[in-house]
Amino acid sequence: MKTVPVSAERHYQVEIGVQWRSALNDWVEGRNKVVAITSEKFAVKTDLPTIEVPDGESGKSAEVLTFIWEQLGKLGINRGDLIIGIGGGALTDLVGFAAATWMRGIDWLAIPTTVAGMVDAAIGGKTAINSTYGKNLIGAFHSPVGVLIDLDFIKSLEARDDSAGMAEVIKCGFIADREILELLRNKSLKDVMNDPALQEELIFRAVSVKAGVVGIDFKESYEREILNYGHTLRHAIEKHSGFTLRHGEAVAIGMCFIAELARLRIGLAEEVVALHRELIQGMKLPISYKKEVWDELLDLMALDKKAKAGTIRFVAIDAISSCTRIEDATFDEMKLAYERISL
Ligand code: GLY
Repeated sequence: MKTVPVSAERHYQVEIGVQWRSALNDWVEGRNKVVAITSEKFAVKTDLPTIEVPDGESGKSAEVLTFIWEQLGKLGINRGDLIIGIGGGALTDLVGFAAATWMRGIDWLAIPTTVAGMVDAAIGGKTAINSTYGKNLIGAFHSPVGVLIDLDFIKSLEARDDSAGMAEVIKCGFIADREILELLRNKSLKDVMNDPALQEELIFRAVSVKAGVVGIDFKESYEREILNYGHTLRHAIEKHSGFTLRHGEAVAIGMCFIAELARLRIGLAEEVVALHRELIQGMKLPISYKKEVWDELLDLMALDKKAKAGTIRFVAIDAISSCTRIEDATFDEMKLAYERISL
């Protein structure tokens, strides 16, 4: 088992490689009431009162949140009680937001069941539901009191979910931890999924990257933006695909694009650009998107809530582990970079 301490709003530990059921006992003891919230898909059975909600992004709605509030009221959940979220990244976003809003903020514990949930969503205290105007527009920063990562959950995932989660792991490698990239060199998704020790090491390293970043800049005034590496085009592609692409799949394409733009704009070495393609393809993730839709993607990127005053601002790297921002790329340069990754 490995532990990563996080200091962001509060101090808590991410415990990696635990058996979640036995680890849960320590959290339940001494609490008056504890309620588990899980998705209908996982329907994880515990002895605790359990609220079941729809799986995935469709659960991150005002209706589902209202349903949770009703159930918390019925169960008489109070300030000193604990809510436990057991599910993927969408579920922990929703449960964290329910905890942030119930009684002006009560404790919650995250038990992520997907790789993306383990290395990204459950860590760092961003909680949210979706609005008709976009994903995660209604939210709060509200850190969990702990995160329990049980690698056994990974065995039950579809390969596509494993791949999508690995995109976030690769992202952490490029922005801050070269060793992640070395561990993934010449490895297939199957190699990673058949090697629990490697999984534990990769998840430990990715969680450590995220913990380090949110510990410096919890509310994303500058440094935390680096976690959005690959996410500006990701946002547009995800939307353009009608959310048929997983978040991680769109991040993978977004990273290939920003690597190309960084090569053009700030001299990122061709071998690092090629390493993006190699590792992303190794994890069975896409490296390209439709050529003819560039103008639509450009419009969607300009609407990105992170775009500032008509410019498109990208988190980029000029070398492995060296993050910067590209703020003055011309549309022609962006188009050229896109042409290099499009089909
Ligand atoms: N997923 C990006 C962040 O937590 O800031």
